[in-house]
Amino acid sequence: MRRSHFRPPDILPASTPPPNALQAAVITHLGAQAPRFVIDWVDECVSTNTALIENTPADDGRVHVLVAERQSAGRGRRGRQWQSWPDGSLTFSSVWHFARGTPAPAGLSLVAGVAVARALERLGVVGLQLKWPNDVLVNGEKLVGILVELSTGRARGLAAVIGIGINLRLPPDVRIEAQAGVTDLAHALDGDVPGRPALLAALLAELDNLLATYASGGFPAVKGAWEQRNAFAELPVRICGDEASLEGICAGVDDDGALLLRTATGTQRILAGDVSLRPLGGDAP
Ligand code: BTN
Repeated sequence: MRRSHFRPPDILPASTPPPNALQAAVITHLGAQAPRFVIDWVDECVSTNTALIENTPADDGRVHVLVAERQSAGRGRRGRQWQSWPDGSLTFSSVWHFARGTPAPAGLSLVAGVAVARALERLGVVGLQLKWPNDVLVNGEKLVGILVELSTGRARGLAAVIGIGINLRLPPDVRIEAQAGVTDLAHALDGDVPGRPALLAALLAELDNLLATYASGGFPAVKGAWEQRNAFAELPVRICGDEASLEGICAGVDDDGALLLRTATGTQRILAGDVSLRPLGGDAP
């Protein structure tokens, strides 16, 4: 595995364009897909996911997107904190509505991971892999975190809030709690990082395309694309849940997006937990 080596951040522009200029730039980059989206780019909020869960926009046929320069309490999976840096990160959430009567969307968080991976591949990132359910890794180090939450307000029907945090330029010597290795887009693209409006537009366009596939074919229509990028395919792994951990071989995912773990007593479906690689020939510390 390539070791992470962080460069000091590039010289930042003297002033960041005001939010409305950023919104307009995203719309321009979205081109023909622009009418699908409502973009709100704010200076600061507690967490873009929290804001959209607490105040989910009604279904008007468009995808509402909230981008924040700063989050005072960014959230990660399993109750963790998510750290980000103005200009050094892209942090945003988007709301996707489902037709009334739709059952809980199985595998949706994995679909979001595939969409992000595809968008970044198109931008030239190589060596992207997915760690179940949806961490996006480059050479084993985390580049993107994704938090998918359901909003079930009775009046507004079922909606999913997909929150995405991408490291663009990490501060030097950053240490992130509970993350073995982190990387950034500057490192993955040899310093040639697209502007945030172009990056956001590329991600939203890919999410929109893949969620259309998912709406018609469910997770089975996306499963192959996830499996192709599975970081731990057929490797020995440990799953750490809230109370216990399990070991086995990572045998991919099923049609609902559950992780399949081949153990001494048979194959088990894993619905929650943290996956890590288990060194061969001994217990991990
Ligand atoms: C994880 O890897 O644990 C998920 C991290 C998700 C972070 C993003 S940043 C935008 C959105 N708002 C949040 O508070 N969290 C998500």
